Amino acid sequence: MPTGIMSPLDALRWSIEMGADEAVLDAPIDRYAESAAQLAARQSSLPTLPVRPAEPVVRQAAQAPLAPSQGVVDSRNAAAKAGNLTELRAAVAAFEGCALKQTATNMVFSDGNPEADLMIMGEAPGAEEDRQGVPFVGASGKLLDRMLEAIGRDRTSAYISNILFWRPPGNRNPTDAEVAACMPFVQRHIALVRPKVLVFVGGASAKALLDRKEGIMRLRGKWYDYTSPGLEVPIPAMATFHPAYLLRSPGQKREVWRDFLAIKSRLAGSGN
Ligand code: URA
Repeated sequence: MPTGIMSPLDALRWSIEMGADEAVLDAPIDRYAESAAQLAARQSSLPTLPVRPAEPVVRQAAQAPLAPSQGVVDSRNAAAKAGNLTELRAAVAAFEGCALKQTATNMVFSDGNPEADLMIMGEAPGAEEDRQGVPFVGASGKLLDRMLEAIGRDRTSAYISNILFWRPPGNRNPTDAEVAACMPFVQRHIALVRPKVLVFVGGASAKALLDRKEGIMRLRGKWYDYTSPGLEVPIPAMATFHPAYLLRSPGQKREVWRDFLAIKSRLAGSGN
């Protein structure tokens, strides 16, 4: 927590930034006002756990591949069965292998035109997307719309989705397990849409879908061949900055403008 005295407004902003963006109880609990006696009483009522001897550490053979989690197995099976976008959407809605579903208000599947030759992949829904069940409708979505407009496009000529279908609480970074559980659906999504050009906005989607370790600073502005199981022909893919990052660092808009011009040329059938 920042030091010094904060105004109530700054304290509220700080709380939202830390992820406390939903009221859980009708009235706040002032933990500082709890008396030392109350605290001691609460602590003394806690059972004392017996100390267990440490269990021996079982080391896995260095080369043994990790078995996929049940969530990943389930999503692979369900995704493989989806023959079209309606079935895929229903399969994602029925999926119980990603814990984010429990805290989200709505599933956020996609927006735009699935027939479009341009597909945009973001990271995860934010608060507004969670409320509406539609990707990129908050502040970064408005900027994404302007980025599309700059190359003569809108949501009738682009298709938009994310690598996660549910909002991580407080917009925290998704865990590797959450990304892995959704990945078979995301790969099937791309394979069913089969766009001419795929654009990853932000490091999370670029790294997950290209299976790369580098950050977005290194990945952006270059063309990649996106491949996945079930896709016969690779799809040309470009990584660029996330609009949420551009809102914080508007100086980087020039780079994104350059990336979008390259995307425009590629869609027009020319340029690299
Ligand atoms: N950021 C994303 O990556 N996706 C959204 O849908 C909204 C914000």
